[in-house]
Amino acid sequence: MPEDWPEYRGEALRLGILASGKGSNFTAIVQAISAQKLPAVITGVVYNNPGAAVSQRAQAAGVKTQLINHRDYPDREAFDAAIVHTLRQWGTEWVIMAGWMRQATAVLLEPFGTRILNIHPSLLPAFPGLQAVERALQAGVKITGCTVHRVVLAVDSGPIVAQAAVPVLPADTVATLHARIQVQEHRLYPQAILWAAVGNC
Ligand code: GRF
Repeated sequence: MPEDWPEYRGEALRLGILASGKGSNFTAIVQAISAQKLPAVITGVVYNNPGAAVSQRAQAAGVKTQLINHRDYPDREAFDAAIVHTLRQWGTEWVIMAGWMRQATAVLLEPFGTRILNIHPSLLPAFPGLQAVERALQAGVKITGCTVHRVVLAVDSGPIVAQAAVPVLPADTVATLHARIQVQEHRLYPQAILWAAVGNC
């Protein structure tokens, strides 16, 4: 992916965010919009864990939030149907998973087609799934990073939009390595959204 922002002349992208936890990628997207680098509006944030810090971040940014707790639904399809209903009410065009810890079903994927993105803390296809940073450290790789990809049914397997590499340093712990990866995530994700929207990757 080029290091700059692509030219985009369309309407503001209508982004619905799905997040389960801290929400630092959400904040990076908000900041890119405020800085007028990413021509987008955030239609709202769906979060699934009561008390997830992303909900406070969203409220502070003046962004709508909706708690949709997967524990309240009989199966993954019913949960995803509730998410689609909310995203549609908000007029969402792009689904942006930002630390979303639930596996998507066809119920969520079909209405949005290729307009669903995720960010993962490894250089996919290495270390898909949970604990990617821990497993990279344990494997002794010297370079890891993060990947923005389109979402398909198989976890962390969709077409890659953009990647950033991060060196693994000898003294790294999971926390220090993840923090260094997140610096790259926050730079990469807003740009990758726009690259995906212009259709170049
Ligand atoms: C990120 O490292 C992302 O790659 C992974 O979950 C983490 C979310 O971080 N999918 P945050 O909630 O955006 O701070």
